[in-house]
Amino acid sequence: MAGPIQALVAVDGGIDGQTIQALLPDDGAVEIVGIITGLEESWRTLQETVPDLLLVVCEGYSDRALFFIDSAVKQQPDRPVVVLTTGSPNGFVRRVFESGADDILTLPELPERIAFALEKAVARRRGAAVASGIALAPMICVLGPKGGTGKTLVSTNLAVSLALAGHRTALIDLDLQFGDIGLALGLRPDKTIYDLAQSGGSLDEDKLAAYLIEHSSGLQVLLAPTRPDQASAVTVDLLRDVFTAMRSMCDYVIVDTPPGFTPEVISAIDASTDVCMVGMLDSLSLKNTKLGLETLELMGYEQGHIALVLNRADTRVGITHEDVEVVIGRAPEVFIPSDRDIPISVNDGVPIVIKDERSEAARAFQQLAERYTEIGPEETAKEFELEPEPGKRRFAWRS
Ligand SMILES: Nc1ncnc2c1ncn2[C@@H]1O[C@H](COP(=O)(O)OP(=O)(O)OP(=O)(O)O)[C@@H](O)[C@H]1O
Ligand SMILES: [Mg+2]
Repeated sequence: MAGPIQALVAVDGGIDGQTIQALLPDDGAVEIVGIITGLEESWRTLQETVPDLLLVVCEGYSDRALFFIDSAVKQQPDRPVVVLTTGSPNGFVRRVFESGADDILTLPELPERIAFALEKAVARRRGAAVASGIALAPMICVLGPKGGTGKTLVSTNLAVSLALAGHRTALIDLDLQFGDIGLALGLRPDKTIYDLAQSGGSLDEDKLAAYLIEHSSGLQVLLAPTRPDQASAVTVDLLRDVFTAMRSMCDYVIVDTPPGFTPEVISAIDASTDVCMVGMLDSLSLKNTKLGLETLELMGYEQGHIALVLNRADTRVGITHEDVEVVIGRAPEVFIPSDRDIPISVNDGVPIVIKDERSEAARAFQQLAERYTEIGPEETAKEFELEPEPGKRRFAWRS
């Protein structure tokens, strides 16, 4: 963007000018052309100056601020408005957007994030940030209708394999109540999807990137909330935005899920190009796997988009691979053996594809990753533009 953003700051409440100056970065990206306390006075200044942007600062719910934003937007609809508030009580965020503001941030917030929100609002008004026609990356949803079948094992090792192969890969932990990807990958939950949900405002790639944690393999991870009671803050609407943003910034997106077809799992299936179904070699798990596959078919998923992974595939329980084919109606693509190093690798927070890359289990995960890289994201993106068959969803690749 050419030159600093010239921001006029309008303050409601007892926040002083110095505090506001300290909220912004000192790299010259934002130039404050005036800090005026008292909205009546700001109103006069607003008519006399031509700032790039209006920054409204308030302390929680403020009818005066809402009225001011509404009038300012009516007076000059092209001028973006961003709101900083020390708290966002119920309904305030919605009212702020209704009054015509572009974004709202709740303090405390990092100076660079505030500057970024301002730049984004200005760029959007200038038409510079219109992101249309972006090719969306494949998104692979790892499913297993029953608990403990190895979904987290598969999603972490698949995602790390793709990242190690040099692909920009993201992993989303959608097990919102009991997600354990952080433990499985040895990551500290400094930021989680709960913090993203709490941040308010609109979501785009740069904002999402600030909530990702990088694994040593290069994998970018969006962690699940650290406490089960935080799960309800993550709405399906937010998830839809997260999936789209993630798919526009990566080569591959992997989603780990909780057992069952919960609303968030269904939203992930809807947004996915591929499903990876994980089953185990016992009759209950096979029955559930078959039911899961049937459910996907009812949802309009084509068989070609579903990879079947059989975990603990060498367990001597009297069920042969042929039996599996008869029960499920198709052969699994990938077999993952039982390996005593797997629980150890989970406990150490080092995925087996890193801990022992030549083990049979690691090779199975690499084989699974190759299944997705054979075609490659560019080809996938192209195919994604194709119209879906009548009655089928707009899924992407390989038919
Ligand atoms: N092939 C295997 N060999 C040895 N241990 C395994 C294997 N697969 C999974 N496990 C162990 O079983 C446990 C459950 O695996 P995992 O957490 O991946 O299952 P899940 O399907 O994600 O479970 P949940 O439904 O609870 O999320 C883990 O502790 C893992 O170490
Ligand atoms: Mg799991």
